[in-house]
Order: sequence, then C-alpha cells, then structure tokens
Amino acid sequence: MQLKDKIIAITGAAGGLGRAMAVRLSRCGAMPVLLDMNEDGLEQVRQECEQAGAKARTYIVDITQEDQVVKTFKQLIEDCGGLHGVVNNAGVTADGLLVKAKDGQVEKTLSLEDWDKVSQIDMRGVFLCAREAAARMIEQDEGEAPQMRGVIVNISSISRAGNVGQTNYSAAKSGVAAMTVTWANELARHGIRVAAIAPGFCQTAMVEKMPDKAREKLEASIPLKRLGEPDEIAHAVQFAFENDYFNGRVLEVDGGLRL
Ligand code: CAA
Repeated sequence: MQLKDKIIAITGAAGGLGRAMAVRLSRCGAMPVLLDMNEDGLEQVRQECEQAGAKARTYIVDITQEDQVVKTFKQLIEDCGGLHGVVNNAGVTADGLLVKAKDGQVEKTLSLEDWDKVSQIDMRGVFLCAREAAARMIEQDEGEAPQMRGVIVNISSISRAGNVGQTNYSAAKSGVAAMTVTWANELARHGIRVAAIAPGFCQTAMVEKMPDKAREKLEASIPLKRLGEPDEIAHAVQFAFENDYFNGRVLEVDGGLRL
C-alpha cells in the first residue's frame, strides 16, 4: 500500500511510539488519525504532524469501551471519508513479579487489578479496534480490487517471549501476536492484510520508568548496546504498510536482544 493520501488511524498516538509513527506516516504523505485519551498530548502530536505536512485529526477514545470504539470509527470515517489502515499501538505496563517469598512469607505481588488493566488495554483494546476497523474497511466500497482494502498493523512486543516481571504484559502481547496470525488468515479473503511489529526496548517513558538497575542490565544485554529510537519502530510500521507481501508475521525490531 502506498501511504500517500491514505487515512491511517493510530491508537495511543499522544506520545511515545505512537507519536513517532504519526510523524513518520505524515512525512510519507498519509493522513494520520490520532486516537488517545490524552487530549493535550493529542494536540501536540497533531501540530507535529502538521509541521510534517499532514492534516491529522484527533479523537479522544477509551479503546477498552466497545461503544466508544464503535462511535469513534464511525465518526472518523465520516469526517475523513474512509479508512485504509489502523495501527493498534496503545499499550500500558504494570510490572510486578508473580509472587515474592522471604523468610517463609509468601506475597502475591502481581495484583488482579494490574492483570486486568494490562489485558484490557493491551489485548481487549486491540481486539475492539481491529474488529471495528476490519468491519468498516470491508463495508466501504471504493471500487478497488479486494486486495486494496486495508492494512492492520498490531504492536506486539519482544516481551511476549516471557519477560521477568511482566506476566500481564507478556501474556497480552503474546495474545496480540496470536490475533495477528488469526486475522491474517481470516481477513485476506476480504482484502485486508494484518501484520505485527514487536519492538524491543526503546527510548520511551515506558522504559524510562523501569528501575535503573533493571534497565542498565537490560541495555548491556542488547547486542547493539543501546535502546531503540521510536522512529526505528515507526520505520518498521511504514514497512508493514508498504510491503504488500508482508502478512501474518511478527517483525522483531529489538537490536538483536532475543537472538
Ligand atoms: N531475573 C531474575 N530475577 C529477577 C529479575 C530478573 N530479570 N528481576 C528481579 N529479579 C529478582 C531480584 O533479583 C530480587 O531477588 P532478591 O530478592 O533475591 O534480590 C527479586 O526478584 C525482587 O526484585 P526487586 O527487589 O526488583 O522486586 P520489585 O518488586 O521491586 O520489582 C520488578 C520487580 C517489577 C520485576 C522490577 O524489577 C522491574 O520493574 N523490572 C523490569 C521489568 C521490565 O523489564 N519491564 C519492561 C518495561 S518496558 C516494556 O515493556 C516495553 C516493551 O515492550 C519492551
């Protein structure tokens, strides 16, 4: 898919990797549609997209709420005149060891609340947005060949391999990788490609909030000996849109961390 003039919704677009994706897709000539709950962040990224040459629209939406997702996709398609792609990028962490044991005392350190929070945003939110995007893409008839209808790019994570302290996040991001394969199989017949990017550890607020010791240890174990730049992940997202034979796969962009 050539990105010029394509309408691409990005969840979690108010900062971090989503911001980098919005700016890069703007430079490629796309029209980014920025979805997030952070109104100020959205406005800031909208302005950056404008500076990069794109007229971006912003929508405040809680992606865990079905009614809000349905309403937002309906509205954005009405406002923009269509939808060609979506990046399911929104995600949060709430790290914690499963249990801790000291001096015969066992503590359940990962709360059910943190399990639910991460799985709701990182997995249920992806499901709701992808389902809505796919339904709307199939519905819209632009008179194009079916293979031209749209592309869904899911953001998984290298943590899906099972990162210590990330039971909830690893499970959700594995779920995202699995849904990518299922949807690639199901949606190809409708002219929709689905692919995923699994970022490694990047220079974002999410990684910044890791304990210093854990982050330093991790950085030392990356063969390239540095964190990724958000734009390096955005570059992979661009690839996922532009390469029409990339389907159902999870592309790892992690500096070689999991080699
Ligand atoms: N491997 C093995 N053991 C570990 C460990 C590890 N990676 N990390 C901690 N432990 C052990 C510690 O050695 C310690 O053992 P002792 O008591 O015997 O010394 C024990 O677990 C408790 O460690 P802490 O005191 O650090 O426990 P805590 O409850 O304060 O914190 C933690 C635990 C939440 C896991 C914390 O260490 C942490 O946040 N680690 C980083 C988790 C992480 O990698 N997050 C990634 C965020 S970025 C992201 O997710 C983006 C992406 O997509 C890639």
